[in-house]
Amino acid sequence: PINDLAVTPQMGWNNWNAFACSVNEHLLLSTAEKLAAVGLRDIGYQYIVLDDCWSLGRDEMGNLRYDPAKFPHGMKYVADQLHSMGFLFGMYSDAGSYTCARYAGSLGYEEQDAKTFASWDVDYLKYDNCFNEGLSGSPKITAERFRAMKHALKSTGRSILYAMCNWGEDYPWKWAHTIANSWRMSGDIYDSFDRPDPHCPCTGEEGYDCSYAGSHCSVMNILNKAAYVVHTSMPGAWNDLDMLEVGNGGMDYEEYKTHFSMWAALKSPLLMGNDVNTIDAKAISILSNPAVIAINQDPAGMPVNRMWRYYVNDTDVYGQGEIQMWSGALSGGDQVVILLNAGNSARMMNATLEEIFRHETGIAPEIKEDWDIYDLWANRMDEATAQTILDGTGVAPAGVYYNVTELSFKDGLAA
Ligand code: DGJ
Repeated sequence: PINDLAVTPQMGWNNWNAFACSVNEHLLLSTAEKLAAVGLRDIGYQYIVLDDCWSLGRDEMGNLRYDPAKFPHGMKYVADQLHSMGFLFGMYSDAGSYTCARYAGSLGYEEQDAKTFASWDVDYLKYDNCFNEGLSGSPKITAERFRAMKHALKSTGRSILYAMCNWGEDYPWKWAHTIANSWRMSGDIYDSFDRPDPHCPCTGEEGYDCSYAGSHCSVMNILNKAAYVVHTSMPGAWNDLDMLEVGNGGMDYEEYKTHFSMWAALKSPLLMGNDVNTIDAKAISILSNPAVIAINQDPAGMPVNRMWRYYVNDTDVYGQGEIQMWSGALSGGDQVVILLNAGNSARMMNATLEEIFRHETGIAPEIKEDWDIYDLWANRMDEATAQTILDGTGVAPAGVYYNVTELSFKDGLAA
């Protein structure tokens, strides 16, 4: 790891998925207020991350300027306000001559821009990959551009979490742990569970095309790729599966639960990409599941592995009926088990422990007869309670607590 940050995956909010370039001071500060009011800050969502489109060129000294129409009080003010509310402030730039939305990039200005960010009391930098002047296409060349900002951030003396955004075309999961606290491993997420996209084959094999333009990776695209890459994550250095779509409307409740559970268990950073002012009770009840968050924040930091996948095409009109089993160790000798229904219809799943832990690619744990089994989604906050919190009449859950249901466990079968 490059520093002592992101010992567990970072949690927070980023404006891009829900607001794209419509950014301003009010959006960040009102989002922070809402996150605090509904209990999401206290359950761990700590970083408020500003994405692209905040700047307005450079001044005569070459310093990046914030757009005063969007940020009338300046970035230091935003940072001060967020800090006083108990949040940390994330900033955005690009390891190219322009950002993806064609604002000034930091290539060649790394030292100067890092100093600017530090002078604004920034705690986090998302560093994008657009307009890289051809300095891409091989891990070595790409790594140089991202390493320059790592050094620049370090020499400011300020503690700044460094989140690298290379969309996987240079296999960052193989090398980025020496450069950043997290790195993207796919094209941008799209608010769909399994919409096929030819530009995001995401097989994890070398040589596939998963570039930014035209990549709209569904949850299943990203998971099917993550299966090959996430084992390189470790405390302080995480594969980033991209922002959470929970609450944005493109998936149903079960799909959002699956999306959230998988991101958590794969130890992805958990950055909400939603509009917290229109978020509904269902989304709140998912995003605040303390047991699932505790899996994500487990100190051992070991992502689950995909143990096996099994096609069941007969019952599925989309021909995508598939179940997958993912599992991994937690600290303290516990084990996460996820039976993932990747198809489009409800499915009864019944398996013995031996069947569950039959492994093709993962490492099977030693099966212990005295295990207790808990369903981490059984006793989550219900929607009615979540609604009272949104209405301001209920009280938000304080801190991470466990609230799980013990399942019966008979003859090696979970019932
Ligand atoms: C590409 C990144 O992958 C997105 O998350 C977002 O930061 C946009 N660029 C902003 O232009």
